[in-house]
Amino acid sequence: MKFSKILATGSYLPEKVLTNQDLEKMVETTDEWITERTGIKTRHIAANEETTCDMAYQAALKAIAMADIDVNQIDLIIVGTSTPDAVMPSTACYLQEKLGIKVTSGAFDLQAACSGFIYALNTADCYIKTEQAKTALVIGVDKLSKIIDYTDRGTCILFGDGAGAVILQASDEAGVLGSKIYADGSYTSILECGGAVNQGQVMGNPYVTMDGQAVFKFAVRALSNVAKDLAESVKVDLGGIDWMVPHQANIRIIESTAKMLKLPLDKVVVTVDRHGNTSAASIPLALDEAVRDGRIKRGDLILLEGVGAGFAWGASLIRF
Ligand SMILES: CC(C)(COP(=O)(O)OP(=O)(O)OC[C@H]1O[C@@H](n2cnc3c(N)ncnc32)[C@H](O)[C@@H]1OP(=O)(O)O)[C@@H](O)C(=O)NCCC(=O)NCCS
Repeated sequence: MKFSKILATGSYLPEKVLTNQDLEKMVETTDEWITERTGIKTRHIAANEETTCDMAYQAALKAIAMADIDVNQIDLIIVGTSTPDAVMPSTACYLQEKLGIKVTSGAFDLQAACSGFIYALNTADCYIKTEQAKTALVIGVDKLSKIIDYTDRGTCILFGDGAGAVILQASDEAGVLGSKIYADGSYTSILECGGAVNQGQVMGNPYVTMDGQAVFKFAVRALSNVAKDLAESVKVDLGGIDWMVPHQANIRIIESTAKMLKLPLDKVVVTVDRHGNTSAASIPLALDEAVRDGRIKRGDLILLEGVGAGFAWGASLIRF
């Protein structure tokens, strides 16, 4: 049976940085409050004309360059996003056109909010294991700033924009050791952006609404449980993990999860202080950072895990 292996990573952050001090001028908040409750200091915000596809393209180019492959080898594109550029076609098809390639195993978007990358990675892994694809471009990207209400201090302090990418390729050695994805639609109301286009008008609230405390509690429980379930099913001792790369929502969620999994914080990749919550992009962004600065090395055992609106959550264990 074939495995899939991460050949390369890439990421992109928009140029504009939004600091806590900037937010102090926009809503009633303080740098101290944001830092203490979330660990976030800055986040990047895409320019008005910069699209989700533009960010995905930049991240993809970096991953393709690191992989040192001919771009035409890519036969599958999966884009995890909840902020696509259009209702249709998919961001993946726009990206395919921008890359100037034809694919033989499909190009599509996948919506699992902040777990979009974990869902996309798992889907690409299944395509490769079943020999429906050989080389997949897997992206997590979001331009959350377009659905954030910058007068709502409960949400606008949290989110940022960005993109992350991996090239996943068929290999005789693992690779992706296993993944688990879950969803529970009974939690839709604690985190949602319910607006939709209907007969030329936006119906419902086009901005993100959230019950912060409910999300916090759900996230810690889901992230620690899914890691334990996955480790048990692939027979890996969580104590042997070299790096955990969690979804970057809040430093307190990350710390609580690490504590429940008995993982020391120096084995956890943290970017939330500089990126904020970039939704589907946060895991591949953090992964790329740790690969490029040399923390994550070939052969390391990595736990990726994410949770977000739906609720949808999941984890992957990877021999890098
Ligand atoms: C949003 C979050 C930071 C709020 O922190 P919290 O400790 O739960 O704070 P609370 O919501 O209990 O609010 C406490 C007080 O701070 C106030 N507050 C809320 N946002 C504030 C802000 N940006 N600045 C200052 N005060 C703020 C509240 O109004 C409340 O005031 P009150 O006590 O007078 O009513 C936290 O709940 C969180 O991070 N949740 C998870 C969110 C998340 O990760 N979402 C994405 C998941 S993918």
